[in-house]
Amino acid sequence: MKAIVLCAGKGTRLRPLTHSTPKHLIPVGNRAILSYVLSQIADAGIREVGIIISPDSGAHIREAIGAGEQWGLEVQYITQEVPGGLAHAVKMSRGFLGSSDFLMFLGDNLIEGGVSSLLEEFAATRPHGLVLLKAVADPRRFGVAELDDQGHVVRLVEKPKEPKSNLALVGAYVFTREVHDAIDRIGPSWRGELEITDAIQTLLDAGKAVVSHELKGWWLDTGTKEDILEANRVLLGSNYAGEGQGQVSGLEACQGGVDADAALAACDVVEPVSVAEKCVLDNSRIGPNVSLGPGVKITGSTVTNSIVMEGVQIIGPLVIEDSIVGSRSVITGQGGNEVLRLFLDSDSSIEVRPS
Ligand code: G1P
Repeated sequence: MKAIVLCAGKGTRLRPLTHSTPKHLIPVGNRAILSYVLSQIADAGIREVGIIISPDSGAHIREAIGAGEQWGLEVQYITQEVPGGLAHAVKMSRGFLGSSDFLMFLGDNLIEGGVSSLLEEFAATRPHGLVLLKAVADPRRFGVAELDDQGHVVRLVEKPKEPKSNLALVGAYVFTREVHDAIDRIGPSWRGELEITDAIQTLLDAGKAVVSHELKGWWLDTGTKEDILEANRVLLGSNYAGEGQGQVSGLEACQGGVDADAALAACDVVEPVSVAEKCVLDNSRIGPNVSLGPGVKITGSTVTNSIVMEGVQIIGPLVIEDSIVGSRSVITGQGGNEVLRLFLDSDSSIEVRPS
């Protein structure tokens, strides 16, 4: 069993931050989203992993993840030159995959409990495709599965306007080599992409077994600022972040709570938080649901429900909530009782002055 992790998406809904930071490397609970995905693959016993990167963000991801030793993985990189869709990414991975069965994991999906049970079910039932489903409030954003009375998958539709069920396709799939032939038989969808959903439908139409597994735990698809803040809240809340395995350069895996190497003076800390090493905080109220990256400096301010990345300085008095602040940004001034809600790329500068 091999794995491919798809990290070529542009993250357009996360601009401006994704101008400097690929979405898969955005830290939630002080670990890159991709770092959780790689930990879960390692936990499921897979070693050989192909990470699909784009020409734009590839160098960043390679630099952060390297050969994957920190996770006990052997990582290779596969460049997807054009954003041709998920099935196109599988096509690009054919040389790496050979005739292996494989797990396909979208590098921006966080799944409670990981993928071990999915792989165990695959090993026990040996279908050609195994999809993971989750009941969601608005299935129109996703691929949607229609099941028959016995719970067998009968139809899969990508982003239907009128969904036939509330079961969304989660971004973790297991396939045998049969999926490659199915991919060869599909054409681009209305959005101009080769959809993995269409390839799975082609497997079904050819009478190949496709089984589904319903996810009972949480699933976070981190496409927007709100999604990222929710992921941060959920991970801090479940303290999953505290189980950090190894470190990724520049994105330290740190314990939920306050790192021993952070300096706090006259601060009120409301858990859950993750305060990384070398943070210097004084006369401030931090939390709940706040992740501060390494070396963040905060003076005289209140920060709630936010991700503040490495090296940021917040010199108040300021009140900041529901914000994502890119690395090394500097926010200074006197905000009075006004609340700032920020979404800033790295190296931004904001000065707040009373009128
Ligand atoms: C992709 C899949 C979709 C799936 C979703 C999960 O959508 O095409 O079927 O439900 O991932 O994250 P995309 O992220 O390309 O819009």
